[in-house]
Amino acid sequence: MKFKIVVLRGDGIGPEIVGEAQNVLNRIGDVFGHSFEYEYHHAGGIAIDTFDSPLPSDTLKACQNSQAVLKGPFGGPKWDKIENKKRPEAGILALRKGLDLFANLRPVKLYDALKDASTLKPEVIQGTDMLIVRELISGIYFGEPRGLHGEGKDRYGVNTEIYRFSEVDRIVRLAFQLAELRRKKVMSVDKFNVLESSRLWHDVAEEVSKHFPHIAFEHQIVDNAAMQLIREPRQFDVLVTTNMFGDILSDEAAMLTGSLGMLPSASIGGQVGLYEPSHGSAPDITGTGKANPLATILSAAMMLKYSFKLQRESDAIENAVESVLIAGLRTADLARKGEKTVTCSEMGAAVVKAIK
Ligand code: IPM
Ligand code: MG
Repeated sequence: MKFKIVVLRGDGIGPEIVGEAQNVLNRIGDVFGHSFEYEYHHAGGIAIDTFDSPLPSDTLKACQNSQAVLKGPFGGPKWDKIENKKRPEAGILALRKGLDLFANLRPVKLYDALKDASTLKPEVIQGTDMLIVRELISGIYFGEPRGLHGEGKDRYGVNTEIYRFSEVDRIVRLAFQLAELRRKKVMSVDKFNVLESSRLWHDVAEEVSKHFPHIAFEHQIVDNAAMQLIREPRQFDVLVTTNMFGDILSDEAAMLTGSLGMLPSASIGGQVGLYEPSHGSAPDITGTGKANPLATILSAAMMLKYSFKLQRESDAIENAVESVLIAGLRTADLARKGEKTVTCSEMGAAVVKAIK
């Protein structure tokens, strides 16, 4: 089969890690008889430099007309002084919104070979296998009013957390459907004891749970969830939460896998899915070969599964990643003191070679 993918290489380490993910996809194409056609477009920091916009309208149109989007991280210190509306990050949000991607899936799975790579104790993190389902196009990231106002000591900033019934209903429903394919447990995380938007979330989640009586359902308040994640991560199967809580908890949960460099993501819900690593553009290590391409490679595996329904091919990538980790290959972020490291391209090449 033939698939058309828009590639947004991104900033910092973006081009390095996205290139490795494409090498892996090409290898999948050769082994399983598919062809992946790439179309490159500007977005993020480099698009600000060239087009004065983090998401030029041609780029969004191209993404809307593709079958899937593979994206590197956007941003870096060069664009740090720009007002929020025009920053590289604004391009990410506009892309998610423009593709109607209300669900962000972040699988947090510890590969056994990496249980000593985390700063957390191996006996605590062993067996971690959860799916964070983060609402992606509403909540405080998008709510109005927002803005910076006033002068001098009278300055203030405003953001609004708003959730509508339909927005909570669809994401929680999806979390339950995904739980059907897993260990059949859903944990909904909110702050209902303080925030009205969370009270709505809590109540709607409870209502949705009634339609899935065979799925175990619990709520946790976000501060407790943050603690439970590192206290006893094996209690989580599917964790569903708001845009901002999901952003924060997924970085925390990434450490259960050894490194933020291991956390892939799929954003779905619209016609075209978006696949990107959960981490940032790491300007400090750009061009040094120290980047870990595995989160992006695993995001490509999620593209095969969710956008192209190629489960076998997706599993082939995951198995290849697991086998190179078992063989002891470690990028800098995964290596313990004194351990030998491989570069980003060596890691990518090893995964390519391991695909059979
Ligand atoms: C993420 C990132 C983004 C987010 C930023 C870069 C806008 O942190 O995907 O988790 O907050 O969603
Ligand atoms: Mg984040």
